[in-house]
Amino acid sequence: MFTRRSFAGRLGLGAAAVRLLPEMAYAQRAAVNLSGMAKDMVWLNANENPAGPPEAALAAMREVLPTSNRYHYQEFGAMYAIIARSEELEPDQLIVGAGSSEGLHLVVDTYTSATRPLISVAPAYEGPIETARALGRPVVLAKLREDYTADVRKLAEEADKARGGLIYLCNPNNPTSAITARKDMDWLVANLPGNTTLLVDEAYIHFGETPELQSALPYVRQGKNVIVTRTYSKIYGMAGLRVGFAAARPDIIQKLMPLRMNVISIVSARAVVAALGDQQNLLRERRARLAHTRRELCDWLSGRKVKFIPPHANFMMIDVNRSAREFIEAMPRMGVAVGRPFPPLENLLRVTIGTDQEMAKFRDVFWKLYKG
Ligand SMILES: Cc1ncc(COP(=O)(O)O)c(C=O)c1O
Repeated sequence: MFTRRSFAGRLGLGAAAVRLLPEMAYAQRAAVNLSGMAKDMVWLNANENPAGPPEAALAAMREVLPTSNRYHYQEFGAMYAIIARSEELEPDQLIVGAGSSEGLHLVVDTYTSATRPLISVAPAYEGPIETARALGRPVVLAKLREDYTADVRKLAEEADKARGGLIYLCNPNNPTSAITARKDMDWLVANLPGNTTLLVDEAYIHFGETPELQSALPYVRQGKNVIVTRTYSKIYGMAGLRVGFAAARPDIIQKLMPLRMNVISIVSARAVVAALGDQQNLLRERRARLAHTRRELCDWLSGRKVKFIPPHANFMMIDVNRSAREFIEAMPRMGVAVGRPFPPLENLLRVTIGTDQEMAKFRDVFWKLYKG
């Protein structure tokens, strides 16, 4: 196994490039070794959306491809305006980047320091945590509560102890698929210690159905010390196009702007603009389809007395009653790729909700292994 530095060394990267490595390391970890794998593999390992890009986005991409010799810089103002309007924000409250990963990276770089830690829960999505570690910033991870939700009082306490920090909450959380309920989020925002910023990663927010799950964007509109990241990789089905954004007060956005990479690809920009043309229908239909398939899997597991964390995203964690690593290794050989290990939740297996047909294959393979 490579350490991050030896990996950088092999690639011939200098110290500055090590800043890029968290995302690269993440891509490595998400990748499944394809040698000897089934050609008809069902991919339930990376919380992608089998529905893919909407038709309008595909048409827009085909149309722009022949003119991709140009930078198209002049179009990005309009793209910012369209994305902002779609979330009831102003363009100066946004920074658009390569997936939500770019926004997360910029926020961690800007709002943590040698004395100002990144504070989160274990386990949470690793991206921002790895960025903080690669930058040499302290990381504090609080235990989840018994019901797998974040203990917001503990997070505030840690920020207070450090005299400020960046609290990172993913809502719904990856990998648990559990939510931070509205009342907890309200409490946290109202009780943020001094010198503390709250970063809420809403990559999966569209998949939730409970009214307890609310976006943190209203806090941004109210001018709080809150930054929200969103992505077009999940419900919009465009992970490979790499588009997402961070939303925050204009003064926060101004701090992030100088560090951003550049504009995104014009092909991706046009795809997002086209997808937003029918945003409400797209979100409603995809949420309903996902919820139906997710409910079927939950019912199937309950019928077999297999425990799981009640899910609110397009993935869920199943208690396999022994080390999940056994399933993670064996299932791809049987044609189903599932999530990576998420210590300290050793017995929990993360599976992405795919199509009904894909989930039928998942159930078949899972049950063979589970029964032993
Ligand atoms: C919680 C969470 N945030 C952010 C990301 C990054 O995704 P992207 O850069 O494609 O927006 C992921 C990827 O799976 C994720 O699970």
